[in-house]
Amino acid sequence: MENNILKMPDLKQAASRSQKASQVEHDLFHLPEAAQTLGRNKKYYLRTYGCQANVRDGETLAGILELMEYTPCDKPEDADLLIFNTCAVRRTAELHVLGLVGALKELKEKHPEKIFCICGCMAQEEAVVKEILKSYPQVDLIFGTHNLYRFPQLLLDYLDRKETTVEVYSQEGEVIEDLPVKRSDSCKAFVDIMYGCNKFCTYCIVPYTRGRERSRLQADILKEVQQLKDQGRKEVILLGQNVNAYGKDLGMEDGFTTLLKEVAETGIERIRFYTSHPRDYSRTTILAMKQYPNIMKALHLPVQSGSDDVLRRMARGYTAEQYKALFDDMKNEMPEIAFTTDIIVGFPNETDEDFQQTLDLVDYCRYDAAYTFVYSPRSGTPAARMEDSIPAEVKRERLQILNEKIAHYANLANQPYLGQTVKVLCEGPSKKNDKVYTGYSEKNKLVNFTGPDGLAGKIVDVKIKEVHSFSLDGQAL
Ligand code: SAH
Ligand code: SF4
Ligand code: F3S
Repeated sequence: MENNILKMPDLKQAASRSQKASQVEHDLFHLPEAAQTLGRNKKYYLRTYGCQANVRDGETLAGILELMEYTPCDKPEDADLLIFNTCAVRRTAELHVLGLVGALKELKEKHPEKIFCICGCMAQEEAVVKEILKSYPQVDLIFGTHNLYRFPQLLLDYLDRKETTVEVYSQEGEVIEDLPVKRSDSCKAFVDIMYGCNKFCTYCIVPYTRGRERSRLQADILKEVQQLKDQGRKEVILLGQNVNAYGKDLGMEDGFTTLLKEVAETGIERIRFYTSHPRDYSRTTILAMKQYPNIMKALHLPVQSGSDDVLRRMARGYTAEQYKALFDDMKNEMPEIAFTTDIIVGFPNETDEDFQQTLDLVDYCRYDAAYTFVYSPRSGTPAARMEDSIPAEVKRERLQILNEKIAHYANLANQPYLGQTVKVLCEGPSKKNDKVYTGYSEKNKLVNFTGPDGLAGKIVDVKIKEVHSFSLDGQAL
């Protein structure tokens, strides 16, 4: 069968950065007439992987699908349309998706009328799209992160020709506003403040899959926050790969802090933001966090490594000492702040000494929690071309040693909560046990608790009865 290749991803093109300010498009999305009832009496199965930005993209996709009258379902077998909204940050994430799509080959063979789509960051990778075209004939439509808004048109194209259709842009231009959205949560909401990343840490694929940094206009962000507040939502989570760079492309001075304060002024009850980069962190942001009670005192500040040599080879743009100075500054201003981080072990040629320096840094910062990863080479990134003599076995051991240390400090950080009362935004019954509610405290601790009916969506005072390394148990007061 022929393929309908409208546009293939191109890694070299994705690496280039234009200096032009981004256009903000308010009316790029439209639903072709033929797509308006395409989903009538049909079901979709949408599976999203990866970071919160990708979850937010999944919410846009769900919004578009429901505008076409598709209804959601939980099982691939029940669906007419299957969409895998993927993540490319580590090979394990990719293998998971390819495994699942592979396992569903039979389903497609039995029901050729079912439509299989792959989108998200994996679709932005040249090598992956080639692999899919070669070995996964069950996939019908591949589109990328920059042309999500074209999904209805691409679906019509596919239905017209019934040939595997690929359209992936490697260069973005616009900030696209006014896309439909179906929010997955009724008490909190993700709000994109910017897209893309210009940092090019040497191990990371994100700048290639998400394009250059583009900020949304402050007025559009504030309008969205206000709407969410009016709908009764209690928490907004501001999203960007490097939120501290917000507004630079718009010529704003100290853009992120300015925006953060404006968001706080809306009076929405809780504000969080991900992800901060140590290099661009501004003192004014610390002061804003201190000033506004509705900015939660919990900060996720990825460090990646405690070794200056590794940090330099990662192109992170700071030393361990500089990171620690920033950490001290925050702790001095807000001693109660909760700190979390991301750490990579097994970067190419990371020595025992480098790794020890990471452990030392963890001892210094005593994080509340951390996401830890074994380095995964990403094709096309500079680190993937570096020599690496460290055996996989050693990397796995390092991860285990690090995880034990992280769990130790997480447990220590939770001990003082025993007998205390914390404010929890109740998300509803826990997935594991519907007699128990679940939610997050102001410091972003996962809290499981019992209480009377009707607490979902409310901020509840919970007395902590038991503490674990990564969660707290309690009872609503
Ligand atoms: N923009 C954010 C998040 C990026 S991805 C930031 O800069 O912090 C989330 C985390 O995945 C990163 O912080 C990093 O720890 C990890 N990561 C990214 N690329 C990786 C790779 N090639 N191998 C292993 N972990 C990786
Ligand atoms: Fe990746 Fe670095 Fe950008 Fe984060 S800041 S998305 S780790 S390149
Ligand atoms: Fe993954 Fe793409 Fe996010 S690679 S972490 S889904 S930006």
